[in-house]
Amino acid sequence: MYVCNCNGVRGRDVDAAIAAGARSARDVLAMNAAEPCCGQCLPDIAQLIEEAQGAAAQEGVLVAAE
Ligand code: FES
Repeated sequence: MYVCNCNGVRGRDVDAAIAAGARSARDVLAMNAAEPCCGQCLPDIAQLIEEAQGAAAQEGVLVAAE
């Protein structure tokens, strides 16, 4: 499924960029050799980053509790 229709960036591309260290929607697009055009995807990508960071933080809490 495409997250950024302007650039053809898919959800798995976003996941890979986040895993590789992207910390902003612009980072995600840049890591996919893309630039914002209409900007409609930026909030969605930011949401995916927040979710990934929340999951990582949650995982850290679970590891620390062990
Ligand atoms: S949908 Fe990503 S820049 Fe337009």
